[in-house]
Amino acid sequence: MASTGKRPSSESRETKETKETKELREPQKLDFFAVVHSRFSVRAYQKREVEPDLLRKILEAVNQAPSAGNLQAYEIVVIRDIDRKRALARAALDQNFIAEAPVVLVFLANPRRNQWRYGRRGSDLYCLQDATIACAYAQLAATALGLGSCWVGAFDDRQVLNILHCPQPLRPVAILPIGWPDEPLEHRPRRSLSDLVHYERYEGQG
Ligand SMILES: Cc1cc2nc3c(=O)[nH]c(=O)nc-3n(C[C@H](O)[C@H](O)[C@H](O)COP(=O)(O)O)c2cc1C
Repeated sequence: MASTGKRPSSESRETKETKETKELREPQKLDFFAVVHSRFSVRAYQKREVEPDLLRKILEAVNQAPSAGNLQAYEIVVIRDIDRKRALARAALDQNFIAEAPVVLVFLANPRRNQWRYGRRGSDLYCLQDATIACAYAQLAATALGLGSCWVGAFDDRQVLNILHCPQPLRPVAILPIGWPDEPLEHRPRRSLSDLVHYERYEGQG
């Protein structure tokens, strides 16, 4: 049937709703705010594995993240090898807790996947945003499973690329160690909403 350019009616959309998707959207199952408010940067981990099925859950959640044009212009490298984790810790200015985590994810922007459609905006911005959102999803998914993580952004790009055998133009965006927390939840202070949020126009000094 030729497309009318119209969105499907609510009736036809309704028919695509399965029992499974309906259940996913039930508010009491989301528990989203509890996850958001219990995430904090965890830099000490128990000596306990992160089982492959839990890691898979995290990666599947990441794969649901939005991305520009749904092009998913990023890559994820999963690292469990201790020598490679140590090398990453060194590349991250000796942030040794990275090597203590049972599993480490590295999120890399991949401009090759989107610049054909978006040009400079794709390669300079969207691929970084895609990788960033993906990493944020991973942090929240890990939290929802009781795991802790810490976004590491301070590292030498070139060293990280070498350690992971990644060719340019891939660009590492975040190193994310994940493990079972060995420190109590700590809420770090935040800006007040009155300072952070601007209505209708920005009146601050920049
Ligand atoms: C872009 C970015 C870079 C970061 N880099 C580092 C880092 O290199 N090392 C580190 O220990 N934490 C790093 N963090 C974690 C922040 O320090 C942490 O999120 C912030 O202090 C707020 O604390 P919370 O995550 O516990 O709420 C980074 C976070 C972001 C978003």
